[in-house]
Amino acid sequence: MMAVLAASLEAAEACAAPSAEALGPARPGGEEPEALGWLSGRQLLHLEPPRGLLNDPNGLCWHGGFYHVFHQWNRFGLDHSYKEWGHFVSTDLIHWRHEGSAIVPDTVHDRDGVYSGSAVCVPEGIRLFYTGNVRDGEARRSFQCQALGNGSKWLKLPGAVAVPKGFTRHFRDPFVFAAPGGWWMLVGAQDEAHIGRVATFHSRDLEGWEYRGLLDDEAYENMCECPGLLRLGERGDVLISCPQRRREEPGVSEAIRGEACYELGRFDDETGRFERSAGARRLPVDEGMDFYAPQAFRAPDGRTLMFAWMCNMDAAHDQALPTRSSGYVHCLTLPREVDLEDGRLVQRPARELLGLRRSRRAGRPVRDSWVGGRAFELLFEVPGESRLGNLSLGGLSVDLRSGSVGIAYDAATGTLTLSRCSWVNDEEERCTCHVGRLGNLRVICDVSSVEVFANDGRHAMAARCFAWAGEMDVSYKGLPVGCRATYWELALPDAPSTF
Ligand code: FRU
Repeated sequence: MMAVLAASLEAAEACAAPSAEALGPARPGGEEPEALGWLSGRQLLHLEPPRGLLNDPNGLCWHGGFYHVFHQWNRFGLDHSYKEWGHFVSTDLIHWRHEGSAIVPDTVHDRDGVYSGSAVCVPEGIRLFYTGNVRDGEARRSFQCQALGNGSKWLKLPGAVAVPKGFTRHFRDPFVFAAPGGWWMLVGAQDEAHIGRVATFHSRDLEGWEYRGLLDDEAYENMCECPGLLRLGERGDVLISCPQRRREEPGVSEAIRGEACYELGRFDDETGRFERSAGARRLPVDEGMDFYAPQAFRAPDGRTLMFAWMCNMDAAHDQALPTRSSGYVHCLTLPREVDLEDGRLVQRPARELLGLRRSRRAGRPVRDSWVGGRAFELLFEVPGESRLGNLSLGGLSVDLRSGSVGIAYDAATGTLTLSRCSWVNDEEERCTCHVGRLGNLRVICDVSSVEVFANDGRHAMAARCFAWAGEMDVSYKGLPVGCRATYWELALPDAPSTF
């Protein structure tokens, strides 16, 4: 245990001395932490930009032996005033290398921003689809654009697709996928009545695109960002959308709130319409505090893997992010394996992450506590049940980072609450999801992130969390007799020699 403590203090000391600004206010009632400052330094498992601001994952694909994760990137600053695509590659979903810029705003169709989009693999390489933004004074236009590359070099292609009649300039985030007889493109849109929509285009050859109308007649608040479709074979299709509430008044056009959602149904390859399954409702993909703009793709072994932008925070939280003093903000979620089970989306951390487990520790019955590492995993389960049985983890409550993050299950209401001490004002912030009976709970805690998976991934909750460097205690109480708690330190194995 001392080794763990020593390692975490060493790592904390190795980080640059925090500025007075980064130190922020003291935790109420706690020890004066100013000698230590925030638990800082790079996260082990969550993709962060080398500098600048990162937002949506873009163009996820596997090609030429590499996973490719592109992302929205302002490499010049910590705001949204400039956007291009940055690029990470990996051979194992564990070790990542940032390749710098992939596509930047440098053509007549994208000179004011290379916005979100997707990728498809074709015999010539990877085709990227993105939204180009152009500003002419107050007027703004958007185009759906393309680039072709081999994984390291990218060439912009001609044939930008303009916004069809009936929509405003909020028309973006092309998601392209293959279907029998051609290719479909879903685009997030706002119609002239300021209702969020999903527009569809069809192409036989990826060159010419024909507008085919709306994906469905549903309203997606005032704008739909980042639509996507997961095709899970016999189990059905899952439509991903980020309906966004906006204020649109003369002279004002601002986003108020958005949430990443999913709904079950079938995409019709002929008509380009999405038919919802009977009784299907629009549900949040993740019920935590920081999750937006998810994108999924098919791995070579058939798994569907999803990443999201680990952020859904207001300006106050964004402005107070402790990593600002280190010159970067935001991260992506862990890669999650997604599937449909019993009509629900299930999400589990990619199985590759199991290989990071070290120094296993079996927790004692009922309650236990110890000093945790910079990145760790906790698993609470009812032994002997591979599927959910009748026992439940009723009454369990878990504290991470010396109580600055809490996870509590209330068996009477079937709710799971994730709470954190705000990095803005030290107040407690919480979110709750209804899980019913809790059969197992898996928690992955990185330097400044926590991801919680309940009931074999039927519920997921992601949140950024910033603790002081000295706040390393992990503890739990109320573990029912006969249930099991396991802790692992997480550490990166050596990178493959070929990477
Ligand atoms: C979603 C989003 C997208 C847009 C991108 C710009 O977070 O607003 O709709 O393409 O971010 O960075």
